[in-house]
Amino acid sequence: MSADLSASVDILTAARPKYPYPGLRPFQIDEWPIFFGRERMVDEVIERLAAHHLVLIHGASGCGKSSLVRAGVLPTLAGQHLRVGAPWRLCMMRPSNGPLWSVASEFARLEGDAEYIKRAGDIIRHLSRREVTLASVASSLRGLQGQRICLLVDQFEELFRFEKETSREEAELFVDLLVRNNVEVTRGMKPRGQAGVHVVVTMRSEFLGECARFNGLAEAINQTQFLVPRMDRDSLIRAIRRPAQLYGGEVSADLVERLVADVARGEDELPLIQHGLMYLWNEAARARPGGKIVLDAAPLEQRADLRPSCRIMQTQSSMKRRPIWSADARSNVCFAHSPI
Ligand SMILES: Nc1ncnc2c1ncn2[C@@H]1O[C@H](COP(=O)(O)OP(=O)(O)O)[C@@H](O)[C@H]1O
Ligand SMILES: [Mg+2]
Repeated sequence: MSADLSASVDILTAARPKYPYPGLRPFQIDEWPIFFGRERMVDEVIERLAAHHLVLIHGASGCGKSSLVRAGVLPTLAGQHLRVGAPWRLCMMRPSNGPLWSVASEFARLEGDAEYIKRAGDIIRHLSRREVTLASVASSLRGLQGQRICLLVDQFEELFRFEKETSREEAELFVDLLVRNNVEVTRGMKPRGQAGVHVVVTMRSEFLGECARFNGLAEAINQTQFLVPRMDRDSLIRAIRRPAQLYGGEVSADLVERLVADVARGEDELPLIQHGLMYLWNEAARARPGGKIVLDAAPLEQRADLRPSCRIMQTQSSMKRRPIWSADARSNVCFAHSPI
């Protein structure tokens, strides 16, 4: 399942990522040093999380939802831990393998037991009882009393397929847990000393309507949704330039302008420019091993096959451009690199 996220400090002191641009896949938690352009949004999400304990982050496929949480929100929470000494325990899951099982195994992992899969079996029985809450279950676990836990539920839309194909009952129990967690906190009903579970959900916006089929979910979402805004020009320029600079390289002004213009033209250009930058970086590093890497627009101008959309078509030659960003195709791309 996921990498060990409970040791927040390790995330912040981990080695610099190997490359400055992750390409098509989302940023991972330990890639926060190369993640730029979402600084204000990260603060906004954390403010909402403090008030509600449930935040739904939604937007189009490929707009940067997963990256915002993984490389922005979670490492920032870990940084707060370092500054004020208040522990945050971080975990993440996707609903497709069974939402209750995924929460149970993440909680078991936080307990730190080497036999956590066996332990997850006990926790799932506990989670399945109608009267419990995420906080009460977390508080009953070894070492988690009074702790603050942040649970990322990435690609929440997978729940709707799970509900139809596998178990409506488990999907409902899971949604009840999320809704009750939020209601208790909003009404100030959380008992003192209990663990606090803060849940960040990411979902493609086109599934918002589906949420209303679950009791209480639409009400909860109405209080806490966050539609991911597009990055403004300055943020985009930081996201393009700063990673290269961190590695002693540079992105030429021409290339920056070219990529910014690409983004202005289309809705889903972020993955394309990210993929393009990764490609250009790898090519330049191969051409000048050990030398200063300067990325410029020339290869894009000279070769039509190096334009962002064409490159995607080449690397994914069996898929047409649009379906690359459909849930299944993109999650396959992400799975190849990502811990969950
Ligand atoms: N702040 C950012 N700067 C540069 N590239 C980004 C940023 N956020 C996301 N990306 C890139 O955009 C693409 C889509 O990001 P992802 O987080 O997977 O989006 P979503 O979860 O909305 O589908 C990926 O290629 C990712 O590397
Ligand atoms: Mg995603």
